[in-house]
Amino acid sequence: SKGEPLKVMISGPPGSGKGTQCEMIVKKFGLVHVSTGDLLRAEVAAGSDIGNRAKEYMSSGRLVPDEIVTAMVKARLAQKDAKENGWLLDGYPRSFAQAQSLEEMKIRPDVYIVLDVPDEILVDRGVGRRLDPVTGKIYHITNFPPENDEIRDRLVTRPDDTEEKVKSRLKIYKKNAEAILPIYRDILKKVDGNHLKEVVFKDVETLLLHVKENEETEKLVV
Ligand code: AP5
Repeated sequence: SKGEPLKVMISGPPGSGKGTQCEMIVKKFGLVHVSTGDLLRAEVAAGSDIGNRAKEYMSSGRLVPDEIVTAMVKARLAQKDAKENGWLLDGYPRSFAQAQSLEEMKIRPDVYIVLDVPDEILVDRGVGRRLDPVTGKIYHITNFPPENDEIRDRLVTRPDDTEEKVKSRLKIYKKNAEAILPIYRDILKKVDGNHLKEVVFKDVETLLLHVKENEETEKLVV
């Protein structure tokens, strides 16, 4: 039987590989990927009201005000595809207030994954990252170079991926992560993110298969 759709949260410092793992999770489990970073970058690119309000915060590496982001997430999770296929929330909640908003809406994941990567690796990952604006795929100049020259020529760098900004994003992350942790401690699963992305994904996959299995047996017991 298929059981309830999976609800997954993925967290971890900037550059820990959330987006990269999400690409692979979506392929395997068919969850709806809800990335607040991606949603905000799309608003900025479209020049929308939200985009214009978020732009300065994002390019300087600061958090966008809670009310803007929370409204966006709430609307996205309420859509039919997320309800039917399950979801994969990436980059939210990012503050204690955001986590509280979810609790108030009775939105709770089955598992809270945190990717663990040492600080000194994160700067290199951020500075070397490139994005394909056509496919949305994430590359790295040395770790995951583009497949051909056509892709190489169109790759873009995020304005918040300078060494200085990666470091300040990391500081902001650490401060907030600590405040969020108690809310999800009972479903927290740390994954070592400092391996090849395929190796990291093996761990994530095993974890999610276990979560799914447990959900199904719990249902049988009840
Ligand atoms: P967001 O887009 O969420 O950025 P982030 O959390 O800083 O995370 P990153 O996207 O930098 O990293 P990632 O973990 O996804 O790593 P990736 O897979 O790309 O947010 C951006 C901004 O939006 C925020 O600063 C804020 O302003 C705003 N915002 C978003 N959400 C918000 C919220 N909830 N509230 C308020 N504001 C919000 O990998 C990084 C690089 O490493 C890539 O080049 C990749 O190819 C490489 N890599 C990945 N895995 C590996 C591996 N295993 N080995 C080697 N290299 C790897």
